[in-house]
Amino acid sequence: MGKSKITIIGSGNVGATAAHWAAIKGLGDIVLIDVQEGIPQGKALDQSQFRSIEGISCNITGTDDYKDSENSDVVIITAGLARKPGMSRDDLLSTNVKIIKDVTEKAVKYSPNAILIVVTNPIDAMVYTAYKVSGLSKNRVIGMAGVLDSARYRSFLADALGVSPKDVNAVVMGIHGDYMLPLTRLANISGIPINDLLPKEKIEEIVKRTQHGGAEIVAHLKTGSAYYTPAAAAIEMAKSILMDEKRVLPCAAYLEGEFDISGYFLGVPVVLGSNGIEKIIQFPLTGEETELLRKSVEKVTEQVDAVNKILGW
Ligand code: 2OP
Repeated sequence: MGKSKITIIGSGNVGATAAHWAAIKGLGDIVLIDVQEGIPQGKALDQSQFRSIEGISCNITGTDDYKDSENSDVVIITAGLARKPGMSRDDLLSTNVKIIKDVTEKAVKYSPNAILIVVTNPIDAMVYTAYKVSGLSKNRVIGMAGVLDSARYRSFLADALGVSPKDVNAVVMGIHGDYMLPLTRLANISGIPINDLLPKEKIEEIVKRTQHGGAEIVAHLKTGSAYYTPAAAAIEMAKSILMDEKRVLPCAAYLEGEFDISGYFLGVPVVLGSNGIEKIIQFPLTGEETELLRKSVEKVTEQVDAVNKILGW
C-alpha cells in the first residue's frame, strides 16, 4: 500500500492544527490549502521543518492550487468563518454554505474517490451541503462533532471523578449545538456506570457544560473558537479511515431511517474504516432520549431549509 494523502482545506487554527496532528501521527502526505495567499505555504513550510526533530517522513505542502490535492484519500474541510462571542453556530450558515459549496466542488474535481470529513460550522448543515454538492455516496461524507463533544463530556466526567479521561466511555449524539444529547445512561468509567458514581445534579451540570462547551471557549478567546480538540477529533476520524481501524465513533452521518430519522445528517455512533462510514450502530433509546433527539432533528431541519433556500435547491 502506498502512502496515504490527506488534504486539509482551510489553514486557519483548526486546519493547521489538524495538519500538525496528522504529521505527528504519521498518517501520510499532507496538503494544506487556503485562499489566503502565503498562509498555507508558510504554515506548511514551518511544519515540514519539525519533521527532522520528530523523525517524520511525510511531505507537508501548502498551496492555493487544488491541483496539488489530486488523488487525496481523505479531505478535511475546515474552511469558513468561526464563531465570535455572542454568535451562534447558525449565524455562520449563510457565509459558510457558499464556501463549503465552492471548496467541495474543487476538492472532488481532483479527488473523486476521497472521503470527506466536514468540520466547518454549523457542521450538520455544512456536511449536508458537501454531500449534495459532491455527489459522493453517503458513506464517504462525514461530519465531525460527536468526537469533539464526547471528548469534552469525557474530560469533564474524568475531572469530576479524578480519573484518567482515557477510562471514561461516553457518547454524545444529535446536533452539534445546544440540543446535543450527551447520553448519561450509557456513560461509564471502565464499565462502571457514572450514575452509580456521581450525584444526579453533578451529572446534569456536566451535561449542560458539554452542550455549551464550544461557547465557553469562545467566551475566553473572544476572537475565535476552539481548535485543538476539534482538530484532534477530525484526525482521530481520519486515522480510523486511513488505517481501517473500524473505530466506533460518534459522527454526523446521513440517515435514512436509522433512529427514525431520514434525509438529514446527525451525530450517531458509526464504524469508521477504509470505506468511510461502514456501519451506523443503532440501539434502542429511552422515551426521554428519543424526545431530546427530536429537538436535534427540528433544529437541523431549520438549518437544512436555510441551506436549500440559499443554494436554490
Ligand atoms: C466548538 O464546539 C468550534 O463548534 C466548535 O468548539
